[in-house]
Amino acid sequence: MEMNSTNGLAGLTGARIALAFSGGLDTSVIASWLQEEFGAEIVTVSGDLGQEKELNGINEKAKQLGAKAAYHVDLKKQFVEDFAFRALKAGALYEGAYPLATALGRPLLAKTLVEIARKEECTVVAHGCTGKGNDQVRFDAGVWALAPDLRVIAPVRHWPFKSREDEIAYCAERGIPVAATKKNPYSIDENLWGTSIECGVLEDPTVAPPEDAYQRTVSPQAAPDKAEEVSITFKEGVPVALNDEKVGAVDLVRMLNHMAGAHGIGRLDMIENRLVGIKSREIYEAPGASLLHFAHKELERITLDRWTAQAKAKLSQDYADLVYNGLWFSPLRNAFDAFVDETQKRVSGTVVVSMYKGTMRVLSRTSPYSLYDKALASYTAEDTFDHSAGEGFSKIFSLPLRTLARTEPTRHAETVA
Ligand code: ARG
Repeated sequence: MEMNSTNGLAGLTGARIALAFSGGLDTSVIASWLQEEFGAEIVTVSGDLGQEKELNGINEKAKQLGAKAAYHVDLKKQFVEDFAFRALKAGALYEGAYPLATALGRPLLAKTLVEIARKEECTVVAHGCTGKGNDQVRFDAGVWALAPDLRVIAPVRHWPFKSREDEIAYCAERGIPVAATKKNPYSIDENLWGTSIECGVLEDPTVAPPEDAYQRTVSPQAAPDKAEEVSITFKEGVPVALNDEKVGAVDLVRMLNHMAGAHGIGRLDMIENRLVGIKSREIYEAPGASLLHFAHKELERITLDRWTAQAKAKLSQDYADLVYNGLWFSPLRNAFDAFVDETQKRVSGTVVVSMYKGTMRVLSRTSPYSLYDKALASYTAEDTFDHSAGEGFSKIFSLPLRTLARTEPTRHAETVA
């Protein structure tokens, strides 16, 4: 078999294939179709990233579809600690908003696919992504960064089925159970860091998302009339306690998802620039991630010096692009992390946030590394700032403008009539 081919599905006959398997319609059809079409052997790999539904009985389902082996792997702790919290420390929000839940999950799934492909002696890995999304790139790049000899295929990019209906008909002919084809018009990807929802009426950017599109947050209007406070304690940029109680990473995110979701926090309606060049409309729900990003930023405001904070803000954008673009397993990400981790040495302390009808308000920030010096900031008798030094500072700071005005006296003629 040709290795490292990108030539569609040619030469797959008899291959042993590790398939990223969600148990949904597409990956169920893929599992069956690859066996039927190419006599392939299928090993399914289902990663638990903390999605609230599905995955129960997933290995049995895979076996029913003819899989030779089926793996259901708990990736929750690794996902939160090694992926989501890295993005949190980096302040990574794609195009200033999307906390990257789907994008962060893909490299971990790619890594898991590679591990199981090795163990099961598969030469091919397969995923259920389409040819116009970001996720195909994240899977392909993720697998190849770790295992350049593996062949990566995405049958949906090449196969004959043109619609969901075609796939359902294929399943009906073969008696493949289709998860109660209830008319869910949306395409949903969910994990502990957030939910991504697209398709259906959401494809029209002039239409506001209907309430039924949201999966894990209440609408701000329906949220309680009473604000709720939550305190989050960070150690070197990583959240470690809620309301002064130590909580493990997975539980902490899960608890915040429920708390903040109940107040309608973390909804996002976004038009974004996809890697493949199109603009797409997607809505997101990331209650826990939104709250954590908000609190983390507030803590950085008092613990990071001005220059570091400003440099980090620029890096946050690049970090988000890198994650979005599927470059997790890259030397650049390691270099970014080295910078981020250096900055996070001071980001310890506690932030209290008030949650109320979709909004977050900071109530207090405390840190042993706080750079806030009341004696410098105060306008009371406590004030220790050297006011007279302000004159020289201000004079030198303005020097370029004064020089310019002397050489070009007419520049602001219209302004100063
Ligand atoms: N646009 C998001 C991203 O590229 C999510 C993609 C998957 N969305 C979905 N509803 N299946 O990360």
